[in-house]
Amino acid sequence: MTQFEMTHQDWWREAVIYQIYPRSFADSGGDGIGDLPGVIGRLDHLELLGVDAVWLSPFYPSPLADFGYDVSDFEDVDPVYGTLADFDELLRRAHERGIRVVVDLIMNHTSAEHPWFAESRSSRTDPKRDWYIWADPGPDGGPPNNWLSAFEKCGPAWTLDAATGQFYLHSFTPGQPDLNWRNPEVRAAMHKVWRFWLDRGVDGFRVDVAHRLLKDAALRDNPVEVAHARRHVTHPEVRQRNLDLPETQDVLRELRSTLDSYGGRFALGEVPISDDRRLAAYFGGDGLNTAFHIAFWEQPWQGSAFREVVDRLAGLARPGALPTYALATHDISRTVTRFGGGDRLRVAAMMLLTLRGVPCVYYGEEIGMADAQPPLDLVLDVDGRDGARVPMQWDATGRGFTCAEMPWLPFADGQSQVNVARQQDDPDSLLSLYRRLIAFRRASAALRSGDYRSLETSDHVFAYLRSAPGERLLVALNFAPHSTSVAVPDLPLEGQVELSTGARSGQTANLRPLHLAPDEGVIVRIEEGP
Ligand code: NOJ
Repeated sequence: MTQFEMTHQDWWREAVIYQIYPRSFADSGGDGIGDLPGVIGRLDHLELLGVDAVWLSPFYPSPLADFGYDVSDFEDVDPVYGTLADFDELLRRAHERGIRVVVDLIMNHTSAEHPWFAESRSSRTDPKRDWYIWADPGPDGGPPNNWLSAFEKCGPAWTLDAATGQFYLHSFTPGQPDLNWRNPEVRAAMHKVWRFWLDRGVDGFRVDVAHRLLKDAALRDNPVEVAHARRHVTHPEVRQRNLDLPETQDVLRELRSTLDSYGGRFALGEVPISDDRRLAAYFGGDGLNTAFHIAFWEQPWQGSAFREVVDRLAGLARPGALPTYALATHDISRTVTRFGGGDRLRVAAMMLLTLRGVPCVYYGEEIGMADAQPPLDLVLDVDGRDGARVPMQWDATGRGFTCAEMPWLPFADGQSQVNVARQQDDPDSLLSLYRRLIAFRRASAALRSGDYRSLETSDHVFAYLRSAPGERLLVALNFAPHSTSVAVPDLPLEGQVELSTGARSGQTANLRPLHLAPDEGVIVRIEEGP
């Protein structure tokens, strides 16, 4: 029996998730590449941080055309990361500590080296030909239509297979052919993959590019207005034909009913759509349980910008639906690189861990790791994302990550200051603040499951009330490097500062108005009125 109550179906609604990029977290084997036993060896860090679940980015066999998002076997572990037995051990040991495990589910495409694709490309009459999306050349002998790969470097979304004279579709690199979800055999094969991991005991899936699974059946060109778009774009009148099709929801519903048949499992969608109206349709209904709030990670460092996107999605989402918030992922630059360091990181952490939604902490964010700038000859990723994927900084020397001479990617600058060993016993460190925020959230019904209402403030402040029966909290975040004040009508004269990114935790704060120091965030407990 594991430590947590397995029958708590909706545990994810109150969870804090931690994203691990396995290649860069901890190397147990000494080859400079992180692995699953390495993660097991660092479970203490996760337990001390207080997270409820880890999401493991792909660890499946992969030729690395897209660093693991090109899977050549959905039911195994790449030897570089360990074995299935290591995975089972990780799951068991994490569960023993009350930490759930979420794995990446890549359903839009396989690797070009997956045996399914090898069969499919072998001849036009192969029984698996229709498992992928094949089409004859266009009239000029070029690609069948105007669809583009999401990656600029890859050009069109089509590659000619000279042997059979047809093009295959790849929404990402040519090494990632798109599966044909209109084919029932593909659906059945992927259902089997879901069950493979669910039977092993995983607690959920992070669903890669969930909005891309279905494409226009007739493979018609994208309308000219959106023909330039590599990813989702918002247009008032026209819709793209290679993504965000209504039929996608059927697949997500199938996934959900499978998850629900197991109980206590959930699906977190990666739906890179910044148009909140479209995004809201993806989660909180009978498909994905939750989805990343994409616009959230596209904002400048301004309180009103964050308020606007948080409120907009909240206003459009289904009743009770919760988005997932992240400050950084393996696809975007880290918080300190985008916004600058110092107290801003503390304010960002407080925002992430006090909003109404599921917070997801990318590894290294809890110590303020920055992007590295690998020299050009070391850039490995097709879309230049290596900088945000460099090894975890456990200590000043790098030995905490690997004993190899060279890790697979260089460490970021500042490792001697920014590392776990240095921060773990320092009560004023960012790591300590993350631990306190997570512990506070866990103990607070208002933060875990309460209502949210934002307040009218100046542009550089983002302030909101979180409330549950018997508990009311005011969160006020100053995004400016100068002091400011927040007028909050209808509140008592004063409140108790439960947590501050500065030095006033435990003090009483005047609320008429509430003063904030430069780059300060506070959580203030407000007594219920008589
Ligand atoms: C989203 C993943 O997060 C990203 O890393 C990958 O390149 C694409 N999906 C394609 O799988």
